[in-house]
Amino acid sequence: MIKNKFNRFGIIAICLLSFGYSCAQKNISKNISLKEVYKKDFLIGTALNGRQIEEKDSNAVVLIQQQFNAATPENIMKSEVIHPGWDTYNFDMADKLVALGKKYKIKINAHALIWHSQLPGYVRRLKDADSVKQFFTNHIKTVAGRYDGKVFSWDVVNEALEEDGTMRKSIFLEKLGPDFVTEAFRLAQQAAPNTELYYNDYNIEQPKKRAGAIALIKKIQAAGVRIDGVGIQGHWRASNIPLKDIEQSIVEFSALGIKVMFTELDLGVLPNPWDGDAADVNMKAEYSAKMNPYANGLPDSVEAKLTKGYEDLFKLFLKYKGKVGRVTFWGVNDSQSWLNGWPIPGRTNYPLLFDRNFKPKPAFDAVIKLKK
Ligand code: XIL
Repeated sequence: MIKNKFNRFGIIAICLLSFGYSCAQKNISKNISLKEVYKKDFLIGTALNGRQIEEKDSNAVVLIQQQFNAATPENIMKSEVIHPGWDTYNFDMADKLVALGKKYKIKINAHALIWHSQLPGYVRRLKDADSVKQFFTNHIKTVAGRYDGKVFSWDVVNEALEEDGTMRKSIFLEKLGPDFVTEAFRLAQQAAPNTELYYNDYNIEQPKKRAGAIALIKKIQAAGVRIDGVGIQGHWRASNIPLKDIEQSIVEFSALGIKVMFTELDLGVLPNPWDGDAADVNMKAEYSAKMNPYANGLPDSVEAKLTKGYEDLFKLFLKYKGKVGRVTFWGVNDSQSWLNGWPIPGRTNYPLLFDRNFKPKPAFDAVIKLKK
């Protein structure tokens, strides 16, 4: 009898202990949150795809609310989605995103108002300058106007520069001339007086392109038009992160009196079909097994490079925490990353802090550890 009681107590005690332990474990993982750990430094963001915005991906939803206090729509606010016909707008998903932001206290960075890629077909086919001007004006007024005060910020113009720092040869440059960037900000400022306005691009940490971006920003400022920040996309390779150029860019951009953001951070680990880094969504190369070396898992040595890359970057971001406003990862976890499909379709890449099972990777631990 006594023995039995002890047994029962023993079992109850073990149950209580293990329950407590699993609670504690849950708390530990709950407490280790990028947004919490970095809350005094800068916002921590993620890109969200349609399924995540609609909360159809339950594993992602857990991480989204736990880890991030900023989010950028990966595709659903681009003009081909939100403005599919001359007089037709599709606000459904963007409205859902705004609601999600409210629910989880996540600041929304809307992306991207004026961009030459992912344009609707009817815009790409426009021949006369007047029609392009009309689309440009209607689009900014309607879309930026609707979300003023509902989103925190806009990437007003995305990717207006070539690698050498000159203006990109886009439909907007061709039809509207080089002042179109200033005009986009002017219209956005009128339509969205309560929203921060940013210029966003890739490789603008590189000296020539950076000089082009600085000239562009100075031109906007000289016209008396508001620009609040610049977004460096940050699609880099883990083995080749331009830390010196990134540091110099933070210094030079912030000297213009604007915030610096890292807006689409991911560190690819796969071979690059071309020399140098680019993030032009229109580039494409052919698949071969040689170009997809880690389909069955990432070797420890490459994982270590990725971890070190993130550690170095966040050390730098922390050094300039007064100037860096936000660091946004381009996706929640590795399976969502656009780098599985770009520039070569069908590859397995590992560029983010959470793996395909939504588990934190060593790179996550390294980024957290910097704050301990
Ligand atoms: C990418 C998305 O991640 C993909 O899903 C889409 O197919 C193409 O665009 N620079 C940008 C982002 O500003 O909008 C791009 O996003 C990645 C490069």
